[in-house]
Amino acid sequence: MDLKITGGTVVTASETFRADLAVHRGRIVDIGRRITAPADRTIPAKGCYLLPGAIDVHTHLDMPFGGTTSADDFETGTRAAAFGGTTCLIDFAIQSKGQSLAAAVDAWRQKAEGKACIDYGFHVAVTEATDQVIDELADLVRLGVTSFKVFLAYKGALMIDDGAFFKILRRARQVGALTMLHAENGEVIDVLVSEARAAKLREPIYHALTRPEECEAEATARAIRLAEMAQAPLYVVHLSCFGALEEVKLARDAGLPILAETCPQYLLLDLERYREPRFGGAKYVMSPPLRHKSNWPVLWDALAGGDLQVVATDHCPFNFKGQKDLGKKDFAAIPNGAPGIENRLQLIFHEGVNKKRISLNRMVDLLAASPARIFGLGPRKGSLAIGADADVVVFDPKAPFTISARTNHMNVDYTPYEGFKGRGRVVTVLSRGKVIVDGRKFLGLPGAGQFIKRKRFGQ
Ligand code: URP
Ligand code: ZN
Ligand code: ZN
Repeated sequence: MDLKITGGTVVTASETFRADLAVHRGRIVDIGRRITAPADRTIPAKGCYLLPGAIDVHTHLDMPFGGTTSADDFETGTRAAAFGGTTCLIDFAIQSKGQSLAAAVDAWRQKAEGKACIDYGFHVAVTEATDQVIDELADLVRLGVTSFKVFLAYKGALMIDDGAFFKILRRARQVGALTMLHAENGEVIDVLVSEARAAKLREPIYHALTRPEECEAEATARAIRLAEMAQAPLYVVHLSCFGALEEVKLARDAGLPILAETCPQYLLLDLERYREPRFGGAKYVMSPPLRHKSNWPVLWDALAGGDLQVVATDHCPFNFKGQKDLGKKDFAAIPNGAPGIENRLQLIFHEGVNKKRISLNRMVDLLAASPARIFGLGPRKGSLAIGADADVVVFDPKAPFTISARTNHMNVDYTPYEGFKGRGRVVTVLSRGKVIVDGRKFLGLPGAGQFIKRKRFGQ
């Protein structure tokens, strides 16, 4: 046997129990009260949880956007992810205008190959849905790319219209894929942004004020109706507010296959951040924007109760100096997105589990089991079970942390969570049986991460 982890507490989405865990050739080969068989290496884990490697289904690495490119590439981004206990991610390959979807995936494979330190898959963001592109969806599913994202916002850039969205929903359902949605009404936002600019309103707070909650709620409601007409499942990304959540709840109560994620920033940061002095509000410019904090308990309750199924990061980092300042004179020119790939597990553990908003098992469900199930990564990923990939996080629930850009590993000059304190630290991380994080040391290798061919939705 290659390795065993002894004396820890195994945590899955449904169980918590004291056990040793054995690994051979990259797979979990045994989980038992006491494993006595010899191993080449033993990792003691007394007092620690053994968690399945977290899965981040919403990242933007090396993505051209807003006149610049997100600051983490597949090497720096996946290394930072690993430090945060994430062992698999799904990034968005973005279709450029005139490009086939296969070419978009190829472009993203080139960004990832030789660089990714953890396993990865791709969704494709469809930005131009010609008949040819719609025909391609089946080919992509055969390649293991089984989810497609559409944007109802970012007019003039990524946004598509309702007709194109409907065609994608219908074809995705036929070929066994899941359609993902950025739900904001891009037309209305375009009007509000133009009016704000005309009135010379330039500060970052106007990013939030020109993208009101109603824009998200309306787009969510409309998308659910379109999905219903297409008899298709729909996954709403980065849901941020009560109004959108109400639409998801209504649909789910009616038995429709509507799924939704939220992100730590919508649970922990509020729109007052946009008023930080000296252009500091730009650090939080993302879409949807941060909301009023009255939304936080509503979202936590939905995570606990099952109306939201996933916490992902929407990691899309831009440096404060040199990137965010493209919008110093105009909030609408600030590149949209913020870093978060490294801090999700510690934040959700401390703010969620330690503060009793969600259970420990529910946390594992939200960060690992559900993402694996929804996005066709199981049974290899998302759980600690015999035969699964040995993607394991040894996690010390008592160890204190203070988040800072100085100690984070992401390739970006700030964190929205600067100074956040709590308890719960990643100690060791295994990726397919190899130790890639050992305390503060990174032992992973660029290029060791593999492309994971995902199953069809619901299989
Ligand atoms: O502001 C954000 N969220 N940037 C990334 C692109 C997206 O909308 O997911
Ligand atoms: Zn989005
Ligand atoms: Zn995103």
